[in-house]
Amino acid sequence: MSGAPLHSAPAGSTARGEKLGPVRVGLLGIGTVGGGTFDVLRRNQDEIRRRAGRPIEIVRVADLDVARARERVGEGVDVVDDARRVVADPDIDVVVELIGGCGIARELVLAAIEQGKHVVTANKALLAVHGNEIFRAASQRGVMVAFEAAVAGGVPIIKALREGLTANRIEWIAGIINGTTNFILSEMRERKLAFHVVLAEAQRLGYAEADPTFDIEGMDAAHKITILSAIAFGVPVQFDKCHVEGITQLQADDIRYAEQLGYRIKLLGIARRRTDSSPGGFELRVHPTLIPASRLIASVEGAMNAVLVKGDAVGHTMYYGKGAGAEPTASAVVADLVDVARMFTSDPGNRVPHLAFQAESLSDLPVLPIDAVQTAYYLRLRVADQPGVLADVTRILADGEISIDAALQREPGEGENQTDIILLTHRTIERRIVAAIERIEALETVLSRVVRIRLEDLQ
Ligand code: HSE
Repeated sequence: MSGAPLHSAPAGSTARGEKLGPVRVGLLGIGTVGGGTFDVLRRNQDEIRRRAGRPIEIVRVADLDVARARERVGEGVDVVDDARRVVADPDIDVVVELIGGCGIARELVLAAIEQGKHVVTANKALLAVHGNEIFRAASQRGVMVAFEAAVAGGVPIIKALREGLTANRIEWIAGIINGTTNFILSEMRERKLAFHVVLAEAQRLGYAEADPTFDIEGMDAAHKITILSAIAFGVPVQFDKCHVEGITQLQADDIRYAEQLGYRIKLLGIARRRTDSSPGGFELRVHPTLIPASRLIASVEGAMNAVLVKGDAVGHTMYYGKGAGAEPTASAVVADLVDVARMFTSDPGNRVPHLAFQAESLSDLPVLPIDAVQTAYYLRLRVADQPGVLADVTRILADGEISIDAALQREPGEGENQTDIILLTHRTIERRIVAAIERIEALETVLSRVVRIRLEDLQ
């Protein structure tokens, strides 16, 4: 990476202990996170200056609601309604993008990079989908794009993965990286309520958005695990290859049966390196997952986030905290601003690479298709309560070389002639279980579609 000249470097130098001028920040969007960023920077300005070695000041804000933004920031900060003016402003050193989405935000981020400005963003969708283009442009221009706030809000997982664990070959990551769905699943389990009942309540309480689609369908978690996988394995972001299933089909019965068997169901983002398959690759998936109730991550409840990382040297490490909210997310945005302030004048080739590995050393390790994924399974079958049913089912599983780990049968009610059978399998290849389920569903004694949920022991 060549040391492309930085645009107007802030005044001052540390070499002779001279006082450094402020880093001048332009904020695009002053909603919840923008407001939090403004407050944290102001409240902790002395600490932040002592850490960064210079003050960090928001000098310009762009927001469509200028009146509200003015009221929010008070005197001394310029407020405009056109974000392009902030991006084009030669006095701005760093642009903080908090608009979200892949439309105007992409344009503005690329324009800021083109102008030689560093970028801090919380925009996971933008980086999961357009990250390769953005990081390439930033490397060519010699600027930084920092994005700690894009994954798990205030939890410094990017920093941990990119720097703290840099000695390791990362084996896998499993994260509860969407607070909305974790809140819903926790409530469904604790209060034995159906998905739609809890969702309605979560919306009323403000835990879920009015349009919760991105969260409950798993897209938000998929954006985040896509970014984490790129950093973990040193590969380009490949959101389009991420297998995504949300929690909308999950039934309270399955949460209850899982609990009886010693498991909890969480929406996990999983990225796993596979060394057993040829030519090799990694799994990238988001779906409801049974995990042993005894694992620490299983007790992460409510809207909290946690990311479990397995490195070959360090073993298991876990990072826990608030994944959303004004100040938790601002905590990550400001941490990135401090990083940028410190690295501002450094040779771009000496900075931590965007995806942890040098841009020219990214690997072409492929994402494995979902039918090649290897995991264990929870199966629930509604069956006629008569002799031979279980034998037929277990024969089909044995034919598919699928080994059963545990079984549970619900006691049929008085006069009831059908029941539920729950089976836990050992690890197998997804295409085998799909084929076996097709055969099981064709049995006359199996009365409805088989419920299948993946299971990970997280060892
Ligand atoms: N909507 C996300 C969540 C927070 O529920 O965790 C922002 O990524």
